[in-house]
Amino acid sequence: LLTLKAAELLRQADVIVYDRLIQEEVLALAKPSAERLYMGKPLGKHDSRQKEIHELLVRKALEGRTVVRLKGGDPFLFGRGGEEAEYLAEHNIPFDVIPGVSSALAAPLSAGIAVTHRDASSAVAIVTGHEARKNESLLDWGALARIETLVFLMGVANAGIIARKLIAHGRNPDTPAAMIQGAYWIHEKVVTGTLATIEELVEKTEAKPPATLVIGKVVAAREKLLKAEWELRRRPDAGAVHDPAPLPDQLLRLATAGMGSQVLYYALTIGLFDRLERAQPVPSLAQELGLNGLALEDILESLAALGLVERTESGYRNLELASTYLVTGSTGSLTPLLLHLAAQSSRESLGRYALEGPMPGLSLEGDEHYFAACESLARLAAPAVTSRLELDGSGPALLAGWGCEEYRAEFLRRWPQLDITALNPFLPPGKDLGEFCNGRSYSVILLSCPLASCRRGQVDQLLRTTANALRRSGLLILHDAFLPGGTLPPPEVALSGLGRRIQRGTCRTWSVERLRDALEPLGFGEIRAEPVTAGMLLVTAGKSER
Ligand SMILES: C[S@@+](CC[C@H](N)C(=O)[O-])C[C@H]1O[C@@H](n2cnc3c(N)ncnc32)[C@H](O)[C@@H]1O
Repeated sequence: LLTLKAAELLRQADVIVYDRLIQEEVLALAKPSAERLYMGKPLGKHDSRQKEIHELLVRKALEGRTVVRLKGGDPFLFGRGGEEAEYLAEHNIPFDVIPGVSSALAAPLSAGIAVTHRDASSAVAIVTGHEARKNESLLDWGALARIETLVFLMGVANAGIIARKLIAHGRNPDTPAAMIQGAYWIHEKVVTGTLATIEELVEKTEAKPPATLVIGKVVAAREKLLKAEWELRRRPDAGAVHDPAPLPDQLLRLATAGMGSQVLYYALTIGLFDRLERAQPVPSLAQELGLNGLALEDILESLAALGLVERTESGYRNLELASTYLVTGSTGSLTPLLLHLAAQSSRESLGRYALEGPMPGLSLEGDEHYFAACESLARLAAPAVTSRLELDGSGPALLAGWGCEEYRAEFLRRWPQLDITALNPFLPPGKDLGEFCNGRSYSVILLSCPLASCRRGQVDQLLRTTANALRRSGLLILHDAFLPGGTLPPPEVALSGLGRRIQRGTCRTWSVERLRDALEPLGFGEIRAEPVTAGMLLVTAGKSER
């Protein structure tokens, strides 16, 4: 629910000052080097913290850095965004404010409630629930009671008082009411009743903030909308709903992730997702696969918890994530990569590695599975990488490494006239890394996933080779799981780097700093890194003109 403009500014920010309720996926849009400062307010400590925020924003801006102040929903709706903007104006800090999707509208919508309706409501008021308990309330309860739809934010603790005040000011106790908790989160919960019953319902269901209370006839129309809406949302990308886990839960998740990978590995090995494009009842599926029905049901339930399949009345079927990435032969299939990752997570190989240390040489001979895994990772990244590049379209270009044919297709889509050579020097028997550029010189060279196939010393050699083959002012494009500077690498990058090293003896990781140190002496400047997909970074470096 973030606007495109907000996303764009987040990508540019040097500093992000963010509040409670901001999801990790949103912060992940920022460049790895961005400073992320959490300034959520503990209950009851609002004002001192607010002053701290004001001063922090001004201080960071005066350091000459681009600051994004990130808030939930709309910054000017009960978000103190107005005060922060005033403070910036007083201190002559230039700023812009980007509107957001407010929970006042999004939470009812998520519950299937249209806040206006030709037959039921032509007016909506958005009200703070904090005022209800105050003796000298700033609110005109008589006026509020006459408005058709009321949306209360921050109203969980005061739901009963709000309902009683409205009834006392003439609102019908049978007016429908709904409390929507954690809208768009994985545990979103909606409780519906009437003004007379909502307090008891909220207590009984132990509703907790953040939650939004909606009052009015429009709540009753919900049932009609819900069914259709649910059908649409039935196939969410499970990653889009996010439940911010407390720290101990994160530890548990880490420790149990191995089981998840085994379940996924097994399901992929037996081609389970290939059979679930249409719903399948467990008994016939078990019979077809020769499996124990109870065990298969457990496995399917676990896959459902992972957001990959769902249970319907006629059996289990794929959710979108599985249909897109796990069905054999689907264009974006990641099956080879996932099979490879799951297979390398064995305790035995880690134990052997710990005892014996890294294997002396790189072993890539004849491993079709490994090649397929590298290809599928590179294919996944090719469209994202290509869309971020700005080339003037003049070649020739050399696209080297895994997924090079996919890259060729993507490049030609954007720059149809480009003279392209695509080859994969890493495929055994392997081209001599010193010579694979064929003695030609190029304006653009892309290296796709070199870390997967090189030992550490070989990356240096590869960079020298490409530097020699690149014309003056040429562009070098690298894409792989380089470690971002300044922040911790995502766990999937750190873990799969270790896995590659254990199983293949490849170099484990390269940080962007190390890359910079290697590229600068070769005449490169303007070295930029930005995250693309699957934990990979896109690094571009321009060869100087001299
Ligand atoms: C301090 S206000 C900020 C509102 C924010 N500026 C906006 O436009 O959404 C916080 C309140 O927003 C509502 N809210 C925020 N996130 C919500 C969610 N996921 N589901 C329901 N209500 C939410 C709750 O009423 C919460 O108490």
